[in-house]
Amino acid sequence: MKALVVQQFGAPETLVIEERPTPVPSADEVLIDVHAAGVNFPDLMVIDGTYQILPPLPFIPGKECAGVVKAVGSCVTSVKPGDRVMMQIEYGAFAQQVVANQINCHAVPDAMSFPEAVAMGLSYMTAHFALVDRAQLKPGETVLVTGAAGGVGLAAVQIAKALGAIVLAAVDSPEKAAVAKANGADHVIDTTVADLRNALREEVFAVTAKRGADVILDQVGGGVFDACLRAIAWCGRMVVIGFASGRVPEIKAGYILVKNIAVIGLQISDYRDRQPDRFRAMRQELLDLYSAGKIKPHVMATYALKDAALALNAVKHGKVIGKVVLTTA
Ligand SMILES: NC(=O)c1ccc[n+]([C@@H]2O[C@H](COP(=O)([O-])OP(=O)(O)OC[C@H]3O[C@@H](n4cnc5c(N)ncnc54)[C@H](OP(=O)(O)O)[C@@H]3O)[C@@H](O)[C@H]2O)c1
Repeated sequence: MKALVVQQFGAPETLVIEERPTPVPSADEVLIDVHAAGVNFPDLMVIDGTYQILPPLPFIPGKECAGVVKAVGSCVTSVKPGDRVMMQIEYGAFAQQVVANQINCHAVPDAMSFPEAVAMGLSYMTAHFALVDRAQLKPGETVLVTGAAGGVGLAAVQIAKALGAIVLAAVDSPEKAAVAKANGADHVIDTTVADLRNALREEVFAVTAKRGADVILDQVGGGVFDACLRAIAWCGRMVVIGFASGRVPEIKAGYILVKNIAVIGLQISDYRDRQPDRFRAMRQELLDLYSAGKIKPHVMATYALKDAALALNAVKHGKVIGKVVLTTA
C-alpha cells in the first residue's frame, strides 16, 4: 500500500510517499481500505514535531479516515468486512490501508460520502465536546466562536445553533463571514480591525445588551484570545481549544476571580482513549443531528495523497473553509 511518511520533522513538503506493507489486524483490530482522510491543524504540528504526542520516526501521520472494512481480528464483533466505517486514531490515517481497534470504528450512514464522514470527524467531535461536555452550554446562551469558518469553527457554529444558542462568529475575511452566516451565525465579528482588544468587546456587548458571551470557544489564541477574554459574561466559560495564531496566551488569575469565570481546557484525544464509550455516544449524537438535517459538514476540496502538501499548506495559512480531505481510493 502507498502511505505518506514523515521521515524527518519539517514542513508539509518534506512528507514522502512510500510503499509500505499492508498492516495486519490483531485480535481486536479492524483493517480498512481508506477512501478519505481528514486534514486537521494538529497534523501540521505532528509533521513538524511540535505536537504533544509524537510517534518515533519514521511514521505515517493522519488522525482520521473513512473507508471499507477489508478484514477483522478474531475478537471483533462490531463490524464485518464490507462495512463502511470511519476511524479516529492518533496517527496513521494518511495511507491506503489502516488498522485500528474496533472501539475506534464507527459505521458511516449510507447517505454520507466518505469525505463528508471524515469532515464530520475530529472537528465536529472537538466542537461538540467543547460546547456540551466542557462548557455545559444551555439553550438561549450566547456562544462566541473564533476561527469560525475553519474545521472546528464551522462545526461549532452549526452545533451551537442546533443546540439553541445565539452564535457570534469571529473571522478574518468577508468570505469567511458570509460562510459563518450561511451556517447559522447570528452575528459576525471581524478580527482584522485595528483595535481588536476594545473593538471585539464593544461588538459583543452591543449584541448581548452589555452581558457578554456566556461561552467562548477559542482556537486562535494570541491577541484574539486576549480580546475574547474581555468580552466574556459574568459566570462565562472560555474553552481553550488551540493556538492557530502561534501564541499561547497567558491569563491573570485575578481576572478569573473577579468575573466568576471558568477557563476550561479541551484535549479531544484524551476522551477517545480514556472514555471511549462517551466518545462513541457523542459521535452518534452528531450523526443524529446530521440525519435530522441540523448539521452538515462542508468539504472545501479533496486532494490526492500525492498532493497532501497543498492541503496541509491551505490549513497552515488559514485558507480552509470547513475541511480539506485527502482521497486515496
Ligand atoms: N484541543 C483539541 O483537542 C483540538 C482538536 C482539533 C483541533 N484543535 C485546534 O483547533 C484549532 C483549529 O483546528 P482546525 O483543524 O479547525 O484548523 P483550521 O480549519 O485551519 O482553522 C483554524 C482557524 O484559525 C484561524 N487562524 C488564525 N491565525 C491563524 C494562523 N496563523 N494560521 C492558521 N489559522 C489561523 C483561522 O481563522 P481566521 O483566519 O478567521 O481567524 C482558521 O480558520 C487549531 O488551533 C487546532 O490545533 C484542537
